[in-house]
Amino acid sequence: MAGAESVITFRETQMRFGRVRALEQFDLDVRRGEFVALVGPSGCGKSTVLRLASGLIDATGGTMDRATDNVGYVFQDATLMPWRTVRENVELLGELEGMDKAERKRKTDEVLSLVRLTEFEDHYPRTLSGGMKMRASLARSLLLDPELFLFDEPFGALDQISRARLNEELMALFGVKRFSSVFVTHSVDEATFLATRVFVMCARPGRIVEEFRVPFDYPRDPAIRYSTEFSKLAGAIAEALREAS
Ligand SMILES: Nc1ncnc2c1ncn2[C@@H]1O[C@H](COP(=O)(O)OP(=O)(O)O)[C@@H](O)[C@H]1O
Ligand SMILES: [Mg+2]
Repeated sequence: MAGAESVITFRETQMRFGRVRALEQFDLDVRRGEFVALVGPSGCGKSTVLRLASGLIDATGGTMDRATDNVGYVFQDATLMPWRTVRENVELLGELEGMDKAERKRKTDEVLSLVRLTEFEDHYPRTLSGGMKMRASLARSLLLDPELFLFDEPFGALDQISRARLNEELMALFGVKRFSSVFVTHSVDEATFLATRVFVMCARPGRIVEEFRVPFDYPRDPAIRYSTEFSKLAGAIAEALREAS
């Protein structure tokens, strides 16, 4: 991937909130089709990186350049509209973007099937499990085929089994769509399973202290999680995280 085009680039980026130095000398390149995971202690500025990436806030120093405006977001809180069915929630961004009705229907069918929610398209959010809500949230973001996905601990509230399942489904989606991603997580295992590269951040001020390249090809077999190579790499990342905390 060396030399491939970057979708998003941070250079010596600084973010201060009054006297709080949230980020300092933050450098990161995410190349097209790359799945980058960010891990770091609480408060080290991970969500701040995503807010900068989305353009929600502006850096107080350095630069952030993004090669696309087609950005999808998935947060831990799925924020589905309770009065809309799954299908209606998924269609929402298409409506807001003025996508025509036939196209909207076709895309909605496609993404509901990708996240395996076709059967539940007429259900209301309150009747869904946490994992299903998250899949609906993913489908909603997928509707506009984002080139860049920003994930802020999306599966953090799920039980272990649902989380592992969602990891596998996201992996499959990534295999099909090949969007670029910045995925924030507390779970080293999740980061190692999903990412092409894992970056470890330290706190106050937040910046990247270590980078790990994950050598496994996509699509990854869920069973790699039990391999020695995987355990070694995850162990090294966990150790770097411990030192950074
Ligand atoms: N709007 C804000 N105003 C003041 N301080 C903020 C604001 N947003 C974030 N911070 C501070 O910046 C630091 C990084 O926060 P955040 O990016 O949310 O960390 P993380 O997501 O890694 O837990 C924290 O010390 C936090 O309190
Ligand atoms: Mg956060």
